[in-house]
Amino acid sequence: MYISQLSISNFKSFHRANIKLRKFNVLIGANAAGKSNLLQLFKFIRDISQFGLENAISLQGGNEYLRNINLKRGNNIVGLGLKFDILKEYGIKRNTKIGILEAKLKNFYYTFKIKLNLKNNTYYVIKDELTAGLHFIEYKKDNKTFDYGTANLYINLLKNSYEINFKSKLKKIEANELFPTLPDMQKFLNERIHKSLIIESPLIYTFPFEKIAYFMKNISMYDFDTRLPKKATQFLGKAELEENGENLAIVLRKILSDIEKRRAFFNLVNNVLPLIENIEVKSFLDKYLQFLIEESFAKGQFIPSSMISDGTIFIIALIIAIYFENKPCAIFEEPERRIHPYLISKIIDMMRDASSNKQIIISTHNPEAVKHADIENLLLISRNERGFSTIDRPAEIEQIKVFLKNEIGIEELYVNNLLKL
Ligand SMILES: Nc1ncnc2c1ncn2[C@@H]1O[C@H](COP(=O)(O)OP(=O)(O)OP(=O)(O)O)[C@@H](O)[C@H]1O
Ligand SMILES: [Mg+2]
Repeated sequence: MYISQLSISNFKSFHRANIKLRKFNVLIGANAAGKSNLLQLFKFIRDISQFGLENAISLQGGNEYLRNINLKRGNNIVGLGLKFDILKEYGIKRNTKIGILEAKLKNFYYTFKIKLNLKNNTYYVIKDELTAGLHFIEYKKDNKTFDYGTANLYINLLKNSYEINFKSKLKKIEANELFPTLPDMQKFLNERIHKSLIIESPLIYTFPFEKIAYFMKNISMYDFDTRLPKKATQFLGKAELEENGENLAIVLRKILSDIEKRRAFFNLVNNVLPLIENIEVKSFLDKYLQFLIEESFAKGQFIPSSMISDGTIFIIALIIAIYFENKPCAIFEEPERRIHPYLISKIIDMMRDASSNKQIIISTHNPEAVKHADIENLLLISRNERGFSTIDRPAEIEQIKVFLKNEIGIEELYVNNLLKL
């Protein structure tokens, strides 16, 4: 599953923006164009589902800074629209009064709008609508099937309550019969009406909505601080990689103890860092873990993580984040900062490859990254004459296509600031 479309209204430096996303997205653009703000939007979505709307707003600097400060103070509605496409077939079969019915998930649309009160720092949810596109098939006794086509199951905020229903021809069956958790979910939402969003409901973790809930909650925004994995890690840490990379030793130990994963890991690492012969994770004082690296120049000698180069640590963490972490969406701000230009193309290739399993979004200033990313994956962020951030796809700009036909490289257009014409 991945976010295939995004519409933004009044979020940080954005006023209104609509954009299609792909599985691999490379954000480029001048300083202060709005790249980091766009990445913050994904963090905002994640924070809503992890900590609730109130905390998520606070983590963005409160009402004042969530909205675009350049708009008049009366313009205080922040809105977001997301479309999710399902890639792998996913569905359930249920016994109903008309026979066995299968519901296959196709997509989700989620839209919400929040009205901010700037005087007393409160907010009021004015729109909250989640729709799951479901394809229904009936299995009859004689092995025949009947295709009902696609029907939308929706949860929608009305004035004083939430409504849950099918927008379809599937009238013979009530939504509650197929999805028995819906009444409790409705009750939960009605109790917190206008203060929380559908996505905060605990019952969202049931079919068919659990996929969108899982996606939002597990968006990972990595920002590795290479000083942290250099120190020893406490044994009792999370098994999944922390966004700052501090528990790298724990995660490495898990990967290296699994023969298949170990082989895959060394293949990937050696493609970028051929000097690495072996990695070991050692425990000491029954409390700490540290990893050590053996280089091909000094066989049999292991160097502790505190003496390993920043770039090496960064690349190891990056490979784990993109290939070994079971997360639906991974975001990296300027990942090329610590990587030699020659390796950037390899890292970009890895990301493109890994994006068949997870959505990857990066920002970059690096011409090598721009050159290797494929023009279709580039998103150019810039400020318009009113100071609002805008998003364009260079691949869709006619004049850029003409330049490229004349064999002027995309990185050359980028370096010369000619991408937006
Ligand atoms: N709430 C807001 N309303 C309006 N503008 C904002 C708001 N918050 C931040 N900005 C503007 O967004 C700009 C920063 O954008 P951002 O950090 O996304 O840039 P960037 O493209 O990541 O740049 P860099 O390449 O330098 O990292 C700030 O200069 C500020 O003017
Ligand atoms: Mg930035």
